[in-house]
Amino acid sequence: MLWPRTEVRRPTLASVSSPNSGKTDSRQALYDRFADRVKIDPQFTRKVVSYQGNRKTPGLRWMKYKEGFSRTLVDYLLDEYQPKQVLDPFAGIGTTALTAAGRGVEATGIEIMPVGVLVGTGIAAAANGTSSMVFEKAIKAIRSRIASQRAAAPEHAFPHVAITASAFSVEAERDIGKAREFIAGMEDGATQKLINLGCMSVLETASYTRKDGQYLRWDTRSGRKLRAKMEKGPIPCFSDALEQRLWEMARDLDPIKQMFGGGHPDFRAGSSLDLLKTLPEAAFDMVITSPPYANRYDYTRTYALELAWLGLDRDAFGKLRQSLLSATVENRSKVESLRTEYGDRPKTLEHALALYRRQEALHEVLHILRVNAGELGNRHVIRLLEGYFLEMAVIVTELGRNIRSGGSVIMVNDNVQYHGEEIPVDFILSDFAEQCGFVCTDIWTLARGKGNASQQMGRFGRREIRKCVYRWERTG
Ligand SMILES: C[S@@+](CC[C@H](N)C(=O)[O-])C[C@H]1O[C@@H](n2cnc3c(N)ncnc32)[C@H](O)[C@@H]1O
Repeated sequence: MLWPRTEVRRPTLASVSSPNSGKTDSRQALYDRFADRVKIDPQFTRKVVSYQGNRKTPGLRWMKYKEGFSRTLVDYLLDEYQPKQVLDPFAGIGTTALTAAGRGVEATGIEIMPVGVLVGTGIAAAANGTSSMVFEKAIKAIRSRIASQRAAAPEHAFPHVAITASAFSVEAERDIGKAREFIAGMEDGATQKLINLGCMSVLETASYTRKDGQYLRWDTRSGRKLRAKMEKGPIPCFSDALEQRLWEMARDLDPIKQMFGGGHPDFRAGSSLDLLKTLPEAAFDMVITSPPYANRYDYTRTYALELAWLGLDRDAFGKLRQSLLSATVENRSKVESLRTEYGDRPKTLEHALALYRRQEALHEVLHILRVNAGELGNRHVIRLLEGYFLEMAVIVTELGRNIRSGGSVIMVNDNVQYHGEEIPVDFILSDFAEQCGFVCTDIWTLARGKGNASQQMGRFGRREIRKCVYRWERTG
């Protein structure tokens, strides 16, 4: 076994009893209920539960999707639980679905961001077909097109939106236009998809931007008016970065056939809030997933270059941002759209609303935040948390229907903290799960949690926020 299940030490309740809070009873009660499930296991490293573990993995290294977890984690869980049908409702670039399918396990992944969908389906297609000879020919052809003097027609220019304007040098814009024109003229759909993926994956490298923690940061050379300055250092030209990536992809074609070939993961593009209910009842015996965290992270801003590359205009950006699971201060309530979506199944939504309304620890924190709204950096974090937990209540309710008896859900997620108040996401979601036919068997925490944001640290001191992997088993 890769990770012996050693219980090391119990976490303290430091973050639950905040000096800022007048009332922590409900969180204390929730902690008391779940404390015996919490285990700190040094074997769950940051590398394994994050994208770092994929840095050298053929296929999964093609796109730096920092929100992903590693193939090692998925392999371990598949070894441990031996499922036959696996689901990931927040599939990202498809780590779960690709790994499972490569081992002959039926796999379904749902992902709303077109960036993840292109990468996941691209890797799956390459693992099941793409000939190295055809791909190498395409690499040489796009290289010579970019090297040619002929400018691209204006309709192939990078389709900027306001948040991507001035991301590239004049030379990069020129070469990107040629690459887009080349791709538009390609006839073989499978190779076209891979070349498109390769181009998309180097946009950040060849730009004045850098995905940095929560934000997309901008180098001063972009000429933008910047509040926080960032010096990116030498920026490779688009054609060099692309060529390097495409040859890496070519080298990966054989290994990914070994790793992910043979299986055909079923990738569905869209929101789990709409699509889980279309999946048959009790059709899966395992979920391995990591939803967005309730931490204000905005995927549409971090991946602005890639989404614009894929043709999203301003309206499409806005629509996507509102359809993602609520995790930013810009998300508006989805209650009305959920009522429409669940018009044919009002009981599911009523069940989720009841889970949300009954969750006392959550409402304890929300109350404290509302009372202190004037002091919050952004008062819309309250709306963010309301939306996040209501939508997760819908997801957990649906998973209770999707997973058959004896099956399990494994979820990677971070707790969060606002205004010095910890929100025990692990316990709140596990409470939802235990009202949807699951028993929470384990909450494995990383040996070291995450610190709070620097603004909060100055005011409330350093607190460790649990970063966890939890397991819920379907009973009954
Ligand atoms: C933490 S990431 C998961 C990454 C994945 N484990 C991997 O290894 O690539 C969460 C994913 O959920 C997706 N997401 C957010 N809201 C969604 C929704 N409503 N339906 C489906 N996917 C959603 C995000 O786009 C993001 O890719």
